[in-house]
Amino acid sequence: MRAADRKARPGLLPLLLLAGTGLSAASPPAAPRFNVSLDAAPELRWLPMLRHYDLDLVRAAVAQVIGDRVPRWVHVLMGKVVLELERFLPQPFTGEIRGMCDFLNLSLADCLLVNLAYESSAFCTSIVAQDSRGHIYHGRNLDYPFGNILRKLTVDVQFLKNGEYLSIYIYFLAKITYLLHVCIYTHTYITYILNLADKGWWWENAIAALFRRHIPVSWLIRATLNESENFEAAVARLAKIPLIADVYYIVGGTSPQEGVVITRNRDGPADIWPLDPLNGGWFRVETNYDHWQPAPKQDDRRTPAIKALNATGQANLNLETLFQVTCVCPAYPGYFLTVYTTVMSASNPEKYTTRIRNPR
Ligand SMILES: *[C@@H]1O[C@H](CO)[C@@H](O)[C@H](O)[C@H]1NC(C)=O
Ligand SMILES: *[C@@H]1O[C@H](CO)[C@@H](O)[C@H](O)[C@H]1NC(C)=O
Ligand SMILES: *[C@@H]1O[C@H](CO)[C@@H](O)[C@H](O)[C@H]1NC(C)=O
Ligand SMILES: *[C@@H]1O[C@H](CO)[C@@H](O)[C@H](O)[C@H]1NC(C)=O
Repeated sequence: MRAADRKARPGLLPLLLLAGTGLSAASPPAAPRFNVSLDAAPELRWLPMLRHYDLDLVRAAVAQVIGDRVPRWVHVLMGKVVLELERFLPQPFTGEIRGMCDFLNLSLADCLLVNLAYESSAFCTSIVAQDSRGHIYHGRNLDYPFGNILRKLTVDVQFLKNGEYLSIYIYFLAKITYLLHVCIYTHTYITYILNLADKGWWWENAIAALFRRHIPVSWLIRATLNESENFEAAVARLAKIPLIADVYYIVGGTSPQEGVVITRNRDGPADIWPLDPLNGGWFRVETNYDHWQPAPKQDDRRTPAIKALNATGQANLNLETLFQVTCVCPAYPGYFLTVYTTVMSASNPEKYTTRIRNPR
């Protein structure tokens, strides 16, 4: 590219993104969308989607995630205890994992591990915000190693219940395979995002907690979606049910002030941080660190996001401007790269948008 062309781009790009109602054709590609019917048996419900994929690619992704993220001793241990775990881990999750694993000809231990590995290693920047008219918006970037494979395996999943639209999830297919939910969940009433807390001793604690019948953080979101009555009930549930890991749940509703960051310990809530638009708190930014602590210098994705929101202003907030804010991508730690960006608003589920970033 010539220097003159390069210079012209920065001004052009925001304009393109602002044009029209949705994101323009010049935007990065959208993730493919699949229906998954909850009316089907857990073992069968994911198979129609898997049939669209090259199973060798999926198996390669699984091998890469396990090889890179799962300590050897955990792999050996899981092989020994998996049948015992399967007996008491909750449905429909074990059934879904079992069904996908059999289809892929992978061991149940590996499938369960990929499910857990995801929960140990994603980096996200999430924003929940309210505009001047009281509309709630939600945005997030997902940053993850192995972006090149996962980018090809990122899907939007539309869940159907009694034949009707229930919610959209994003999964990495790879994880999906193991039900690896990739952090974003929207619903007719509520949007959820989870960010992972960056804490040590992850595997030791997670496995011990599994045996105490705590559940993975993404399973709780799915169960909450399935049973959620309203914003308050969902927040209470997400705050309380025992989990295998610390996590940040970022939740957005349909009414003014329905936005909150829940900081979770394994056993219960550590902090609840709601929007406070009447006192200037019209947005909340959560990365992978407790919001009351300063962000570490080597991974400060929080300050650029806050600066960009300040520069945008509450009156100019909408899905397009939020997409740009969410795309302020500073240097990411190590080999983590943004895989996708999502913006959404629970009161306008049809405007839900996920774009794959950095496609190659
Ligand atoms: C997904 O489900 C919706 C709602 O029932 C339906 O309209 C749509 O055609 C389905 N899409 C596919 C690809 O089956
Ligand atoms: C499934 O995996 C087993 C053990 O790795 C192998 O022996 C078998 O051939 C595989 N089957 C298929 C259909 O790929
Ligand atoms: C949600 O509800 C349906 C039945 O309506 C059930 O089959 C499904 O397994 C439930 N749980 C989840 C997490 O989807
Ligand atoms: C954003 O704006 C608020 C309110 O004016 C201000 O207190 C804060 O320092 C600003 N933050 C950044 C990072 O610019």
